[in-house]
Amino acid sequence: MAVNDRIADVDKTPAQMKSAVLAKFEEVFGPAGDVKTYFAPGRVNLIGEHTDYNGGHVFPCALTIGTYAAAKKRDDRKLRFYSVNFPQNGVIETSLDELVPDDKFGWTNYPKGVIYTFNLKGFPVTSGLDMVVYGNIPNGSGLSSSASLEVLTGFILRDLFGFEISNIILAQIGQASENDYNGMNCGIMDQFAVAMGKKDHAIFLDTSDLSFEYVPISMTGAKIIIANTNKKHKLTDSAYNERRCECEQALEELQSVVKINHLCELTPEQFEQYKDAIKDPVRQKRAKHAVYENQRTVEAVKVLKEGNLQRFGELMKEAHLSISRDYEVTGPELDTLAETAWTVPGCIGSRMTGGGFGGCTVSIVKDEAVSDFIRTVGEAYRKKIGYDASFYVVSIGDGPCIV
Ligand code: GLA
Repeated sequence: MAVNDRIADVDKTPAQMKSAVLAKFEEVFGPAGDVKTYFAPGRVNLIGEHTDYNGGHVFPCALTIGTYAAAKKRDDRKLRFYSVNFPQNGVIETSLDELVPDDKFGWTNYPKGVIYTFNLKGFPVTSGLDMVVYGNIPNGSGLSSSASLEVLTGFILRDLFGFEISNIILAQIGQASENDYNGMNCGIMDQFAVAMGKKDHAIFLDTSDLSFEYVPISMTGAKIIIANTNKKHKLTDSAYNERRCECEQALEELQSVVKINHLCELTPEQFEQYKDAIKDPVRQKRAKHAVYENQRTVEAVKVLKEGNLQRFGELMKEAHLSISRDYEVTGPELDTLAETAWTVPGCIGSRMTGGGFGGCTVSIVKDEAVSDFIRTVGEAYRKKIGYDASFYVVSIGDGPCIV
């Protein structure tokens, strides 16, 4: 799968990942016994960015790369975690009586947040766990390694404790734990895409009411390529929460002149009519992006269903320009990747994907142009940014499962 990746794990098969996570479990926690292994995917969003907390549409899909875990219930209240991706942290030991976020717990704040949220929502987690995790999503790449880990933890708890919870509730629990336990005010898109993924389909989700439709993505003659800026970023530290606040303020201002519950209820025409209610020009740009991006996403799905990949690609470019100029969450790394991609013959479309501030672009590239694409974009990136980008040719996979 990986074409030029520093993290060789993206190339490992599910069977290899499973046996690696099991072997690590035995090494760290002793005989595996009745341990079970699980998987939850990462995700990439094809179009519809920063609309999911504005009541708009998104169009993500789950990937075949993701997070694997070997897990087993304990008889006491101890929680013991180990990550193959963070061996330097060793075993992180804590307990069900210590469900408070703290930097000292590192990555385990994600599974602990999910356990905390299960308790809160009336699904009591009454005994501890031993859990080894191994992800082949490049960390910090914006392909939702945290949502993957959250949904994976929820899936494991449902299985081990026999809770009757739908995958949509698992997604909502994941989002709530990320918001309230880990302080990142994300929308529902990532956890929904991870929990509800379907092989070879993207999910056209209306985040205002969670109605959704699976849309087949047949890439005959083309590939989905993810280019990673390799810029280290952490969304909680970034301006993500600030963008969300700006949108909320813009909504309040608009509500003084028009009756709406979300920014994305407005059509672009209505937005132009009412936009002067938003006093600050920066906030006006943020709201404009949300409204236009929502309309673009609806159009993108329509043209894709009609088989018009060309127009889909143009909309990806428009989406990138809007998020770069009006939403301002790209930066030179993502802009260099996307802008160079647009110049490569055979590149149908390219844009930043996910929260921004680093992370990845997603591109649709004709089969015969793939190597050219990687060479041209890779060289331009190194020249301008000073270090390498990584490229992965990805496939769309299913949601969480027992492996
Ligand atoms: C991050 C968040 C999502 C969404 C995207 C931007 O991935 O977790 O909820 O807001 O950014 O579209």
